[in-house]
Amino acid sequence: MNYWTVIPAAGQGKRMNAGISKQWIELLGKPVLAHTLDVFENDSNCEGVILVGSEKELQQMQDFVESFQYQKVRKIVPGGKERQQSVYEGLKVVPTDTDLVLIHDAARPFITHDSILQLVNTARDTGSAVLAVPVKDTVKRVIENQVEETIDRSSLWAVQTPQAFRLSIVMDAHRKADEESYIGTDDASLVERIGQTVAIVMGDYHNIKLTTSDDLLFGQAILLERQGEEA
Ligand code: CTP
Ligand code: MG
Repeated sequence: MNYWTVIPAAGQGKRMNAGISKQWIELLGKPVLAHTLDVFENDSNCEGVILVGSEKELQQMQDFVESFQYQKVRKIVPGGKERQQSVYEGLKVVPTDTDLVLIHDAARPFITHDSILQLVNTARDTGSAVLAVPVKDTVKRVIENQVEETIDRSSLWAVQTPQAFRLSIVMDAHRKADEESYIGTDDASLVERIGQTVAIVMGDYHNIKLTTSDDLLFGQAILLERQGEEA
């Protein structure tokens, strides 16, 4: 089933502390954003990509898309202060006759075609679906350095992107959140908030978000392993 993708890439990467935003960091000689865009560029089910960049990087992003000759990037739009606002700006320019839209962080470059396919198949049937993996660590609620509670891990999942939604559902969810100045931690939480159910699709532990510099080490290892598999 065909879909459009909104890629928020308007963050500053403060926790990475690299002096540049995360999408420009090079992994094995290629910018993170190129690793991410390559996946969608090469997926025949992806009809188009909306890239969301910070106002001051729009020209840089335009030049980058031209030099890498991405055919699927249909629009580059300025984002907002929060990720949620950036996503909403991107959603607003997705063609209105689109059925399914994926929202995927620029900073998650290791997403695979296989995961996208499973996600899309589930969202087609249910209206909303997210990739997630079971939490491996024991998680405790802590207040002022004291354990308050150990949370039952068997029901905890770490949610990733892409998250896939029927366009009408996610637009409704974002519009309402915007009207009510509500900021959620992911797009699915906005959809949950308007009473829609969200399906979980088993993801992949390699689909990490590059957040701190430790993640770059793991990221390089993932790419090297994949190169080895291709050779
Ligand atoms: N993002 C965005 N607009 C924002 C903030 C974030 O489009 N106002 C994007 C980032 O570019 C990233 C994705 O949302 O691709 C996930 O956000 P995060 O990992 O938090 O990235 P940053 O906000 O850039 O990093 P930090 O929070 O450490 O500053
Ligand atoms: Mg952030």
